[in-house]
Amino acid sequence: MLGSFLNHNERTKMKKSFGLLVGAALLALSGQVAANEAEEIGAKIYERAFGRGCGACHDIASNPQLAALIKAGKLPKDQFASVLKNGKNGMPKATAAIMEVGPVKKAGYTEDQAIDAIYEYLKK
Ligand code: HEC
Repeated sequence: MLGSFLNHNERTKMKKSFGLLVGAALLALSGQVAANEAEEIGAKIYERAFGRGCGACHDIASNPQLAALIKAGKLPKDQFASVLKNGKNGMPKATAAIMEVGPVKKAGYTEDQAIDAIYEYLKK
């Protein structure tokens, strides 16, 4: 038995470091799960907001191509959020419509969490 070779102190140390290791792994895993959940909810918002989704307008070439702009670093999150909250010319205010999307309600997201989720989805 391993235990018989180690004194009490060494065994306690081993238990503590094992606990830390498991804790760190679980934390990393839950971070990953939360990130995936946000992306999935972001996708649902993009598909469902305003009934027909953001893509009804944004998948048309003459309107801003959101994913491409974000990936190119041309649409920072604060600007993204501000357009959703205030609207901009042909872009309707979107926060009320976003908060109506089923998975957003189900997850209990705040407005800012929902906006982050769409941004994460588009950034991928
Ligand atoms: C009715 C059509 C329509 C819908 C629906 C729509 N948009 Fe837009 N959106 C536009 C138009 C048009 C613009 C360009 C506005 C301008 O700059 O004059 C725009 C601009 C934006 C911008 C600003 C882009 C930039 O470069 O500043 C963001 C961000 C945006 N939309 C996000 C969304 C998201 C997210 C959704 C879904 C929740 C959505 N839009 C739904 C028409 C729409």
